[in-house]
Amino acid sequence: MNIQIMTLFPDMIMNGLGTSITGRAMEKGILSVNAVNIRDYAFNKHHSVDDYPYGGGAGMLMQAEPVYQCYKAITDTMEKKPRVLYMSPQGKTFTQDMAEEFAKEDELIFLCGHYEGIDERVLEEIVTDYVSIGDYVLTGGELPAMVMVDAISRLVPGVLHNNVSAEFDSFQDNLLEYPQYSRPEIWHEKQVPPVLLSGHHVNIEKWRREQSIIRTAKNRPDLLKKAELTEKEKILAKSIEL
Ligand code: ADE
Repeated sequence: MNIQIMTLFPDMIMNGLGTSITGRAMEKGILSVNAVNIRDYAFNKHHSVDDYPYGGGAGMLMQAEPVYQCYKAITDTMEKKPRVLYMSPQGKTFTQDMAEEFAKEDELIFLCGHYEGIDERVLEEIVTDYVSIGDYVLTGGELPAMVMVDAISRLVPGVLHNNVSAEFDSFQDNLLEYPQYSRPEIWHEKQVPPVLLSGHHVNIEKWRREQSIIRTAKNRPDLLKKAELTEKEKILAKSIEL
Protein backbone atom coordinates (compact mmCIF):
# COMPACT_ATOMS: atom_id res chain seq x y z
CA MET A 1 0.00 0.00 0.00
CA ASN A 2 1.27 3.48 -0.88
CA ILE A 3 0.53 6.32 1.48
CA GLN A 4 1.28 9.98 0.85
CA ILE A 5 0.96 12.40 3.73
CA MET A 6 0.70 16.13 3.04
CA THR A 7 2.03 17.94 6.10
CA LEU A 8 4.06 20.87 7.42
CA PHE A 9 5.93 18.44 9.73
CA PRO A 10 7.24 15.54 7.62
CA ASP A 11 9.91 14.56 10.17
CA MET A 12 7.28 14.02 12.84
CA ILE A 13 5.47 11.58 10.54
CA MET A 14 8.54 9.72 9.29
CA ASN A 15 10.04 9.42 12.80
CA GLY A 16 6.80 8.07 14.20
CA LEU A 17 5.81 5.68 11.42
CA GLY A 18 9.41 4.66 10.65
CA THR A 19 9.55 2.90 14.04
CA SER A 20 8.31 -0.54 15.15
CA ILE A 21 5.84 -2.56 13.05
CA THR A 22 5.02 0.13 10.47
CA GLY A 23 8.77 0.82 10.09
CA ARG A 24 9.46 -2.86 9.47
CA ALA A 25 6.63 -3.03 6.90
CA MET A 26 8.24 -0.06 5.14
CA GLU A 27 11.64 -1.80 5.12
CA LYS A 28 10.05 -4.96 3.72
CA GLY A 29 8.40 -2.89 0.96
CA ILE A 30 4.84 -3.91 1.92
CA LEU A 31 4.05 -0.37 2.99
CA SER A 32 5.38 2.85 1.55
CA VAL A 33 4.88 6.09 3.45
CA ASN A 34 5.98 9.37 1.92
CA ALA A 35 5.55 12.57 3.92
CA VAL A 36 5.40 15.55 1.54
CA ASN A 37 6.19 19.00 2.91
CA ILE A 38 3.46 21.46 1.91
CA ARG A 39 5.95 24.29 2.56
CA ASP A 40 7.92 23.15 -0.49
CA TYR A 41 4.95 24.38 -2.54
CA ALA A 42 4.81 27.86 -0.99
CA PHE A 43 4.64 30.46 -3.74
CA ASN A 44 6.23 33.45 -1.98
CA LYS A 45 9.85 34.16 -1.17
CA HIS A 46 9.33 33.80 2.60
CA HIS A 47 7.97 30.28 2.09
CA SER A 48 4.96 31.12 4.22
CA VAL A 49 1.87 28.96 3.80
CA ASP A 50 -0.54 30.69 6.18
CA ASP A 51 -2.50 33.93 6.25
CA TYR A 52 -5.19 35.76 8.25
CA PRO A 53 -8.78 34.59 7.85
CA TYR A 54 -11.16 36.91 5.98
CA GLY A 55 -13.77 38.27 8.36
CA GLY A 56 -11.37 38.26 11.28
CA GLY A 57 -11.05 35.79 14.10
CA ALA A 58 -8.29 34.11 16.03
CA GLY A 59 -5.24 32.51 14.43
CA MET A 60 -4.04 31.84 10.92
CA LEU A 61 -5.29 29.63 8.12
CA MET A 62 -3.32 27.45 5.73
CA GLN A 63 -3.71 28.92 2.25
CA ALA A 64 -5.33 27.05 -0.61
CA GLU A 65 -2.59 27.29 -3.25
CA PRO A 66 0.36 25.53 -1.53
CA VAL A 67 -1.96 22.69 -0.50
CA TYR A 68 -3.30 22.43 -4.05
CA GLN A 69 0.16 22.49 -5.67
CA CYS A 70 1.34 19.81 -3.25
CA TYR A 71 -1.70 17.66 -4.13
CA LYS A 72 -1.09 18.19 -7.87
CA ALA A 73 2.57 17.21 -7.54
CA ILE A 74 1.55 13.95 -5.84
CA THR A 75 -1.32 13.04 -8.16
CA ASP A 76 -0.37 14.45 -11.59
CA THR A 77 1.24 11.23 -12.74
CA MET A 78 -1.46 8.99 -11.24
CA GLU A 79 -4.09 7.48 -13.52
CA LYS A 80 -6.69 7.00 -10.81
CA LYS A 81 -7.04 9.75 -8.19
CA PRO A 82 -6.73 8.24 -4.71
CA ARG A 83 -9.01 9.08 -1.80
CA VAL A 84 -7.84 12.14 0.12
CA LEU A 85 -8.46 11.95 3.86
CA TYR A 86 -8.53 15.27 5.69
CA MET A 87 -7.84 15.01 9.42
CA SER A 88 -10.39 17.18 11.20
CA PRO A 89 -12.37 17.10 14.46
CA GLN A 90 -15.37 17.91 12.26
CA GLY A 91 -15.02 14.64 10.35
CA LYS A 92 -16.66 11.28 10.81
CA THR A 93 -15.21 9.45 13.82
CA PHE A 94 -12.65 6.85 12.75
CA THR A 95 -13.61 3.25 13.54
CA GLN A 96 -12.25 -0.24 12.93
CA ASP A 97 -14.81 -0.65 10.10
CA MET A 98 -13.38 2.45 8.40
CA ALA A 99 -9.84 1.11 8.89
CA GLU A 100 -10.93 -2.08 7.10
CA GLU A 101 -12.49 -0.12 4.26
CA PHE A 102 -9.38 2.08 3.76
CA ALA A 103 -7.08 -0.97 3.99
CA LYS A 104 -8.57 -2.21 0.69
CA GLU A 105 -7.16 0.80 -1.21
CA ASP A 106 -3.78 0.61 -2.99
CA GLU A 107 -3.11 4.33 -2.57
CA LEU A 108 -4.23 6.85 0.04
CA ILE A 109 -3.45 10.51 0.60
CA PHE A 110 -3.68 12.10 4.04
CA LEU A 111 -3.94 15.86 4.45
CA CYS A 112 -2.85 17.31 7.80
CA GLY A 113 -3.96 20.80 8.72
CA HIS A 114 -2.38 23.16 11.21
CA TYR A 115 -3.14 26.53 12.74
CA GLU A 116 -6.90 27.15 12.59
CA GLY A 117 -7.41 24.92 9.57
CA ILE A 118 -7.22 25.16 5.77
CA ASP A 119 -8.96 27.46 3.28
CA GLU A 120 -12.30 25.79 2.57
CA ARG A 121 -12.01 26.11 -1.24
CA VAL A 122 -9.11 23.69 -1.61
CA LEU A 123 -10.78 21.22 0.75
CA GLU A 124 -13.85 21.28 -1.51
CA GLU A 125 -11.69 20.48 -4.54
CA ILE A 126 -9.47 17.68 -3.26
CA VAL A 127 -10.85 16.05 -0.10
CA THR A 128 -12.97 12.89 -0.39
CA ASP A 129 -13.24 11.94 3.32
CA TYR A 130 -13.25 14.09 6.47
CA VAL A 131 -12.07 11.99 9.39
CA SER A 132 -11.70 12.67 13.13
CA ILE A 133 -9.99 10.38 15.64
CA GLY A 134 -12.24 11.46 18.51
CA ASP A 135 -14.10 14.27 20.19
CA TYR A 136 -11.15 16.37 21.29
CA VAL A 137 -9.11 19.03 19.53
CA LEU A 138 -5.43 18.51 18.71
CA THR A 139 -2.94 21.09 17.46
CA GLY A 140 -2.65 19.48 14.04
CA GLY A 141 -3.54 16.53 11.84
CA GLU A 142 -0.19 14.70 12.10
CA LEU A 143 -1.00 12.56 15.15
CA PRO A 144 -4.45 11.61 13.76
CA ALA A 145 -2.83 10.67 10.42
CA MET A 146 -0.27 8.50 12.23
CA VAL A 147 -3.00 6.84 14.30
CA MET A 148 -4.98 6.08 11.16
CA VAL A 149 -2.00 4.82 9.13
CA ASP A 150 -1.11 2.52 12.02
CA ALA A 151 -4.63 1.10 12.29
CA ILE A 152 -4.99 0.71 8.50
CA SER A 153 -1.57 -0.72 7.74
CA ARG A 154 -1.78 -3.50 10.33
CA LEU A 155 -4.71 -4.86 8.29
CA VAL A 156 -2.62 -5.01 5.10
CA PRO A 157 -1.54 -8.63 4.48
CA GLY A 158 2.06 -9.23 5.54
CA VAL A 159 2.37 -6.24 7.88
CA LEU A 160 1.72 -8.29 11.01
CA HIS A 161 3.76 -11.47 11.46
CA ASN A 162 0.67 -13.46 11.97
CA ASN A 163 -2.43 -12.53 10.00
CA VAL A 164 -4.74 -14.22 12.48
CA SER A 165 -3.85 -11.77 15.19
CA ALA A 166 -5.49 -8.81 13.42
CA GLU A 167 -8.70 -10.83 13.04
CA PHE A 168 -9.04 -11.75 16.67
CA ASP A 169 -8.26 -8.38 18.16
CA SER A 170 -10.57 -6.12 20.08
CA PHE A 171 -13.61 -4.88 18.10
CA GLN A 172 -13.74 -7.91 15.85
CA ASP A 173 -17.39 -9.00 16.20
CA ASN A 174 -17.91 -5.98 18.45
CA LEU A 175 -16.38 -7.73 21.43
CA LEU A 176 -13.30 -6.65 23.36
CA GLU A 177 -10.32 -8.96 23.61
CA TYR A 178 -10.13 -11.51 26.44
CA PRO A 179 -7.33 -11.25 29.07
CA GLN A 180 -4.00 -12.89 28.20
CA TYR A 181 -1.23 -14.35 30.37
CA SER A 182 2.35 -15.48 29.82
CA ARG A 183 5.04 -16.99 32.08
CA PRO A 184 5.44 -17.31 35.05
CA GLU A 185 2.36 -19.23 36.19
CA ILE A 186 2.28 -17.29 39.46
CA TRP A 187 3.24 -13.62 39.62
CA HIS A 188 2.66 -11.37 42.67
CA GLU A 189 0.66 -14.29 44.12
CA LYS A 190 -1.68 -14.16 41.13
CA GLN A 191 -2.30 -17.48 39.40
CA VAL A 192 -2.91 -17.85 35.65
CA PRO A 193 -6.53 -19.08 35.17
CA PRO A 194 -6.18 -22.89 35.35
CA VAL A 195 -8.26 -23.52 32.21
CA LEU A 196 -5.47 -21.93 30.14
CA LEU A 197 -3.01 -24.54 31.44
CA SER A 198 -5.39 -27.44 30.82
CA GLY A 199 -4.55 -27.94 27.14
CA HIS A 200 -8.29 -28.41 26.52
CA HIS A 201 -8.83 -26.19 23.47
CA VAL A 202 -12.62 -26.27 23.46
CA ASN A 203 -12.76 -25.17 27.10
CA ILE A 204 -10.13 -22.51 26.46
CA GLU A 205 -12.13 -21.05 23.55
CA LYS A 206 -15.31 -21.12 25.67
CA TRP A 207 -13.55 -19.34 28.56
CA ARG A 208 -12.07 -16.69 26.23
CA ARG A 209 -15.42 -15.99 24.60
CA GLU A 210 -17.05 -15.58 28.04
CA GLN A 211 -14.27 -13.27 29.18
CA SER A 212 -14.71 -11.15 26.04
CA ILE A 213 -18.43 -10.85 26.72
CA ILE A 214 -17.87 -10.00 30.40
CA ARG A 215 -15.29 -7.32 29.56
CA THR A 216 -17.44 -5.79 26.85
CA ALA A 217 -20.49 -5.75 29.14
CA LYS A 218 -18.46 -4.02 31.87
CA ASN A 219 -16.48 -1.53 29.78
CA ARG A 220 -18.36 -1.02 26.51
CA PRO A 221 -22.06 -1.89 26.82
CA ASP A 222 -22.61 0.26 23.71
CA LEU A 223 -20.51 -2.17 21.64
CA LEU A 224 -22.18 -5.23 23.07
CA LYS A 225 -25.52 -4.12 21.61
CA LYS A 226 -24.02 -4.70 18.13
CA ALA A 227 -22.45 -8.10 18.96
CA GLU A 228 -24.05 -11.37 17.88
CA LEU A 229 -24.70 -13.39 21.03
CA THR A 230 -26.45 -16.69 21.69
CA GLU A 231 -29.39 -16.69 24.13
CA LYS A 232 -27.09 -18.08 26.86
CA GLU A 233 -24.52 -15.38 26.18
CA LYS A 234 -27.17 -12.69 26.36
CA ILE A 235 -28.10 -13.89 29.85
CA LEU A 236 -24.41 -13.77 30.87
CA ALA A 237 -24.09 -10.22 29.47
CA LYS A 238 -27.26 -9.06 31.27
CA SER A 239 -25.97 -10.42 34.60
CA ILE A 240 -22.82 -8.29 34.23
CA GLU A 241 -24.50 -5.11 32.99
CA LEU A 242 -26.99 -5.04 35.88
N1 ADE B 1 -7.19 17.80 14.08
C1 ADE B 1 -7.34 18.37 15.29
N2 ADE B 1 -8.01 17.58 16.12
C2 ADE B 1 -8.32 16.44 15.42
C3 ADE B 1 -9.02 15.25 15.73
N3 ADE B 1 -9.57 15.03 16.92
N4 ADE B 1 -9.14 14.32 14.76
C4 ADE B 1 -8.61 14.54 13.55
N5 ADE B 1 -7.95 15.65 13.20
C5 ADE B 1 -7.80 16.60 14.12
